[in-house]
Amino acid sequence: MVSFEAYMDACLYDPEHGFYASGVGMAGRRGDFLTSVEVGPLFGAVVARWLDFHWDRLGQPDPFVVADVGAGPGTFARELHAARPRCIEALDLVLIERSPSGRSLHDRTLGRSLVDLDALECAHVIFANELLDNLAVRVLQRHRGQWLEVFVGPGEGPSRQRLLPASDVPAVVTALTAPLVGNAQEDHPPSVPVARCAAEWVDAARAKLVEGGRLLAFDYGADTAELAWRAPTAWLRTFRQHQPGTSPFESPGQQDITCDVPLDQLPPPLSRMRQADWLRHWGIEAMVEEGRKIWSERAALGDLASIRARSRVREADALLDPNGLGWFWALEWDGLAEP
Ligand SMILES: C[S@@+](CC[C@H](N)C(=O)[O-])C[C@H]1O[C@@H](n2cnc3c(N)ncnc32)[C@H](O)[C@@H]1O
Repeated sequence: MVSFEAYMDACLYDPEHGFYASGVGMAGRRGDFLTSVEVGPLFGAVVARWLDFHWDRLGQPDPFVVADVGAGPGTFARELHAARPRCIEALDLVLIERSPSGRSLHDRTLGRSLVDLDALECAHVIFANELLDNLAVRVLQRHRGQWLEVFVGPGEGPSRQRLLPASDVPAVVTALTAPLVGNAQEDHPPSVPVARCAAEWVDAARAKLVEGGRLLAFDYGADTAELAWRAPTAWLRTFRQHQPGTSPFESPGQQDITCDVPLDQLPPPLSRMRQADWLRHWGIEAMVEEGRKIWSERAALGDLASIRARSRVREADALLDPNGLGWFWALEWDGLAEP
């Protein structure tokens, strides 16, 4: 029997059978899910503006080391190069991806390709899109006045779930107990994810930053108390080929398992805002306006520039969608070595 955390990690990353490690899972239009990076080049072009801002702020270092962690097939690297940020000549781009099938698709002319963050000496900027939701979580459930932890036993399907008294309940979860006990429904006991791996990863990334460096992560999530009021199926989900999958206890390694990130369990960020607000702050609307203008001037020509311009407008709709990607969070942290 193993903890849900160990089970989820194996389902995703077991070298032979894991969803990502085996190559079953991949981001992209032909893959299992569409991330902001995979919507089109606009997202990378806005992040490129943010990178130029921090390159200037740091005194235009050369090399300017930028790591994309959980890089998947390396689409962000292609977008960044296509956007031609001012920092491009100084850019030392590092694509970090745990899955060998993802790494095999990296374009090594655009950047170095590494297996994990440990292999990176230091970076000015670390970027991670939809990485944190794919890091394994413990699952705790409140039952008759105590917190139990979900373990996974042998067998098939949801009957594999076992509940044992939780030995280590984080303060953010014990703090929930009083209000939850007063309102808990017996048939829907509160459950919460414990994102130890995500919190440790954030600190490991911050430890790699040079003084003044920045970590930027985009993901979906909510505070722990908010997640506790939802059924666990609302925050622990499975996907396969753009469709919801089955129970996480079924088909291990054949579907993605993802968890809404309990944001207040992460180290406190410098800033936290909705993805739509972040993209607006960094100029997406001006870029879309420019696209509209090019489209209206060149639509009759139907050339590549006009098609790209039109696609920019469509991409912005998806990236800013208040019921979709726009509702994600943009989180920024400074380095651990900051004075
Ligand atoms: C949901 S995909 C996101 C891919 C890409 N960032 C995007 O936005 O399209 C998450 C990726 O993170 C990778 N991953 C998970 N844990 C990792 C780690 N500790 N270091 C590097 N990559 C990791 C997975 O293999 C997977 O390719």
